[in-house]
Amino acid sequence: MTAHNTDVEHTDVRHLDPERADLLGDEAVADPYPLLAALREHDPVHWSAKYRSWFITRYDDVAAALRDDRFSSDRITPYRRAKLEGPDADPRVRAAFEVLEGWMVFKDQPDHLRLRRLLSRAFTPRAVTRMTSSVEEIAAELLDGIVARGTGDVDLVGDFAYPLTASVIADMLGVPRADREQFKDWSDQITGLVFGGMGDATRHTVGAQGMAELTSYLADLVRAHERAPADDLISAMISARDDRDALSHDEVISTGVLLLFAGHETTTNLIGNGILALLRNPAQLALLRDRPGLVDGMVEEALRFDGPAKTVARVMGDDVELRGRHLRRGERVFLSPSSANRDPAVFADPDTLDITREKSGQLGFGIGMHYCLGAPLARLEASIAIPRAFARLPGLRLTDESLRWHPVLLSRGMQRFPARFTTP
Ligand code: HEM
Repeated sequence: MTAHNTDVEHTDVRHLDPERADLLGDEAVADPYPLLAALREHDPVHWSAKYRSWFITRYDDVAAALRDDRFSSDRITPYRRAKLEGPDADPRVRAAFEVLEGWMVFKDQPDHLRLRRLLSRAFTPRAVTRMTSSVEEIAAELLDGIVARGTGDVDLVGDFAYPLTASVIADMLGVPRADREQFKDWSDQITGLVFGGMGDATRHTVGAQGMAELTSYLADLVRAHERAPADDLISAMISARDDRDALSHDEVISTGVLLLFAGHETTTNLIGNGILALLRNPAQLALLRDRPGLVDGMVEEALRFDGPAKTVARVMGDDVELRGRHLRRGERVFLSPSSANRDPAVFADPDTLDITREKSGQLGFGIGMHYCLGAPLARLEASIAIPRAFARLPGLRLTDESLRWHPVLLSRGMQRFPARFTTP
C-alpha cells in the first residue's frame, strides 16, 4: 500500500467519510464549500481513491503549487499517449486532443512561455479596453430582448451571461455575427473534452466532432484574414511576432479555439455566480447600488466568494512531499482556488460576501506563469454585465426552482439560472 492510500485521522469529520468526500456528490456540486472547508482543515493534501487524484485545498499550498513547475500543466500528452495511440482509438478524438495539446494552458516551459509571449502581443490591455463599448452594446441588446418578451422570466445564464460572453469573444476574434450560433454550439460540444464530467460516455465523440468543425471553420477564417487583415484578434495573432519567431497557422487556429473556450465558459460562470451572490446578499447589492464605484471590488469579491475555477488540474512531473504526504510522479492533482479563496488563514470571515474588502489576493485567475491571460477581459465583462442586469431588470429575484450546477470538478457554474423580474 502506498502512503497516499493509508487512512488519515479524520474519523470525527463527517464530510471526510470516503463516501462523502466527493466533490461530485450531489451535495457538494450544489455547495462545495463545507466539504472544501473540512478538507482544508483536516486533510489539506487529500488522496481521493475514487478519482485517483490528490486534492490540495489550503491557500498557501495552492499558491505554491501553481508556482512550482514540478506540478506539470501538461496533462494532455500523457493521456493521449496512454489512451489514444492504440489501433482502436478514434482518430477524431485523437485529433481533438492534439488541438488541446497546442494550448498554452496545457504546456510547460519553455513552450508555454513562447506561446504566451507571442499571444501577449496580440491580446493586449489596449485590445481589451477597446471592447468596452462592444460589451456595453451587447449587454444592452440582450437585456432589451429579455424585457421585450414581457414575461418577467429570465434564465440569467442561457439568456444573458452565455450569449454575452460568446458574442464578446467572437467579436474580439473577428468572427462574423451570422456565425455566432454555430460557433456557440461547437464551443458547447468541446466543453466535455476540457472540463470532463460524469456519466456521459459520448462526451469525447461529441467533443471531437465539435472540435473538428470548429477548427475547420477557424482555418478558413484564418486564411481569409491572412489574405485580408482586419482590425481584430485573429489578424493580431497572425502578425504577432518578435525578433525570433511568430505563431504558425496551426497555432493561430489552436489559440483561437483556446480563447473562444477560455473566454466564454468561465466568464459566464463569473457573471451568473456574481449575480446570485448579490441576490442572496441584499445588503451588499444595496451597497453597490448606492456606491457604483465599488464595482471593481464587487467583481474581485465575486471571484473570491464563488469564482468559476473550482479546481485547476496538474500532473506531478516529479515526486514531491507535502504536509507529510508523498505525491508521486505521474499522479494527478487538483488544486482548488475555490477552497484557497475561503481559507480563514488568509481571508477574515471568508464565508461572508463583502464587496468592500481591501485588496483580496484571491486566486480565482490562478497565479504564476499560467496566470489567466484573459483576466482584464473577464473583469471588464463582469463589471458591465452584473450592474446592467440589476439596472435593467427591476425587482430581480430568485424563483422557487432549485438551481442546477454543472457536475464537474474543474468549474463552478450553473446550468440554468432561473429568475424573475417585475414587468411594467
Ligand atoms: C472569470 C473568468 C475567468 C476565469 C475564472 C479564468 C480562470 C483562469 C485560470 C484559473 C487560469 C489558470 C489555469 C492554470 O493555471 O492551469 C486561466 C488561464 C488562462 N485564461 Fe482564463 N479565466 C477567465 C477568463 C478568461 C478569458 C475571458 C480569457 C480570454 C479570452 C481567458 C484566457 C486564458 C488563457 C489564454 C489562459 C492560459 C494562460 C497561460 O497558460 O499562460 N480566461 N484562466
